[in-house]
Amino acid sequence: MIYVLGSINNDISLEIERMPKKGETLLADGCRMGLGGKGANQAVAIAKLASSSEKKKRSAVKMIGQVGKDAVGTELIDKLHDYGVDTEFVRRVNKSTGMAFITLTGKDNRIIVYSGANLGLSKTDVDEALMDAKPSDTLLCQLEVPLYIVAYALRKARAIGMTTILNPAPAKELAPDFYYNVDIIVPNETETQILTGINPRDWDSRKAAMNEFHARGVRYVVLTLGSDGAAISDGGKLVSHIPAIKTKVVDTTSAGDTFVGALALMYPHVGMYSFKEACIFATRAAALTVSERGAAESIPSFDKVCAFYNNEIK
Ligand code: ATP
Ligand code: RIB
Repeated sequence: MIYVLGSINNDISLEIERMPKKGETLLADGCRMGLGGKGANQAVAIAKLASSSEKKKRSAVKMIGQVGKDAVGTELIDKLHDYGVDTEFVRRVNKSTGMAFITLTGKDNRIIVYSGANLGLSKTDVDEALMDAKPSDTLLCQLEVPLYIVAYALRKARAIGMTTILNPAPAKELAPDFYYNVDIIVPNETETQILTGINPRDWDSRKAAMNEFHARGVRYVVLTLGSDGAAISDGGKLVSHIPAIKTKVVDTTSAGDTFVGALALMYPHVGMYSFKEACIFATRAAALTVSERGAAESIPSFDKVCAFYNNEIK
């Protein structure tokens, strides 16, 4: 089982030709609303990518999060459930559901998040959700919910013996002991620079940044590099660059979330596959996400990834 602790947002995406200037009003070319939030997107990625041959027999993923008691909260829980995410540990609270305002200009997106209910998560929520967790389970976190809750959950998961994965997004300064409880860290370029002070612009700086994370106690480091793919390291033998798949870019929102979700799903099978193969699968899934609009809705199913890449990984 994979437990995802994180945000659930109502995403409002506006397609605009350019950003408005100060004091200017612009008309948008398109507007969409849908399920988003880094936590929810990653949970949906796991559910969609897990639901092929195993066909919704049992959910592979439990979401730990909060939404408001408003209509949109109900809608987002329903969507999570429809995608195959177990929502038993998604609580309803007396705050508005989180929202993300996204502007899409050409290939770029800019996001402002109103956290709302996402900030209400408590240690009790984590304790209840992880009550039956086993050492073979995984905890996946991002940083869109209170930092002390993420730190608490990682500590608890480590004590149980679970695998812990951190997507440190959006980047925030983290105390040194935060990293001790992380098995796999998956930052993008901006997050890497903020967390390590190293701009991962070339291979040497990427290696230096990955080594910095290893020095802090992380076993596997995966830097996602947008259209340049990913750099991966286990701090020993494995140091590799995985190129991105060339694709038509429509909307990159949730590319990172798809990558992280896919990796979380594949990691427990490392042994049957290599860690590098797990990351290649994640790169392929993420490339399909960028070729469609939306956050959760643009994430491909396992069948779609396999069909697209000729069944190379099953
Ligand atoms: P986002 O915030 O847009 O969801 P991110 O900044 O967290 O994404 P990125 O490093 O931009 O993460 O992208 C994650 C992965 O998605 C990359 O490692 C790559 O595999 C894939 N990807 C991103 N952009 C492209 C692209 N233009 N073409 C192909 N693959 C891409
Ligand atoms: O990573 C993409 C997500 O970031 C969006 O869905 C938005 O809700 C923000 O949390």
